[in-house]
Amino acid sequence: MSQTFRVLTRSFSSSAARHAAIKNVTIIGGGLMGAGIAQVAASTGHNVVLVDTSDDILKKSRANIEKSLQRVAKKKFAENPKDGEAFIADVTGRLSTQTDAAKAVKNADLVTEAIVENLDVKKQLFSSLDKAAPAHTIFTSNTSSIPIKEIAVSTSRLDKFGGLHYFNPVPMMKLLEVIRIPETSDETFNALLAFGKAMGKVTVNCKDTPGFIVNRLLVPYMMEAVRMVERGDATPQDVDTAMKLGAGYPMGPFELTDYVGLDTCKFILDGWHEKFPGHPLFEPSPLLNKYVAEGKLGNKVGEGFYKSKK
Ligand code: NAI
Repeated sequence: MSQTFRVLTRSFSSSAARHAAIKNVTIIGGGLMGAGIAQVAASTGHNVVLVDTSDDILKKSRANIEKSLQRVAKKKFAENPKDGEAFIADVTGRLSTQTDAAKAVKNADLVTEAIVENLDVKKQLFSSLDKAAPAHTIFTSNTSSIPIKEIAVSTSRLDKFGGLHYFNPVPMMKLLEVIRIPETSDETFNALLAFGKAMGKVTVNCKDTPGFIVNRLLVPYMMEAVRMVERGDATPQDVDTAMKLGAGYPMGPFELTDYVGLDTCKFILDGWHEKFPGHPLFEPSPLLNKYVAEGKLGNKVGEGFYKSKK
């Protein structure tokens, strides 16, 4: 066999194996993240079932996905709108919706959960999915702040459990954190890395540590900025200007906190404070608590540290 042929067959067969590994994907939760994950999975050739609690919610998820696909098509097929329409039809043709999670996992190679950030609700879901899904199905959670192991113990497939942590907005953000717990098998972990690449993402590996990589660095950074303002050292405007022009960040920490949501930051911080009392970077912040109590949750409500458009 010639060297070129060997290389070609190897790359061909490994990409075929990759696709054979994970083809059917079930996403539970059709909100901000779940809809984004479903869109990218269907756009990259996977068969996707998207699950939520009601048909009304799923209708909205589908509408959001179609709107986002239209934006993609407008850019990608600017010269030929007909190809754009065909692209949207092709992608949405691989996407179905379902309110019965047990039914939705019957043919799944991979399940990704993106429901409400609540341990008991996630455990209840996975415990029932464990009984309904085939033995080979890999389970993953997109949780931002709950340890993957604490969710995984609700199942009998710890070797087939891991974390896939995406970033908002999923179609735009290139990064995917792939998390393994001590019990995750090499086979499962490699399948998750291959799936991440098949989704067009750049993967980074991380152990099951609070906040994984990005949030573990980002949330304390945002909170240090808030503490700086609490002490009266500088204004939010000056901190943001300083970090954009002095550190080259695209957004200042207060703009970023408004974008992420002040309630989300508080939720993560309070959880870490409870788990690691006395850790100075995880101390609750009176200023953040005040804003959240006043309903100033950031861009999603039109006001956080700044007033913004809804
Ligand atoms: P979201 O509130 O937009 O969506 C959650 C969806 O799950 C809702 O549509 C809700 O109806 C549905 N749901 C709740 N319980 C369910 C159940 N038992 N079965 C089926 N569907 C159910 O929330 P979002 O922002 O999409 O977050 C989802 C997960 O992703 C959370 O764990 C969050 O921590 C994580 N995450 C969020 C990021 C963000 O920027 N919002 C970034 C990365 C991870």
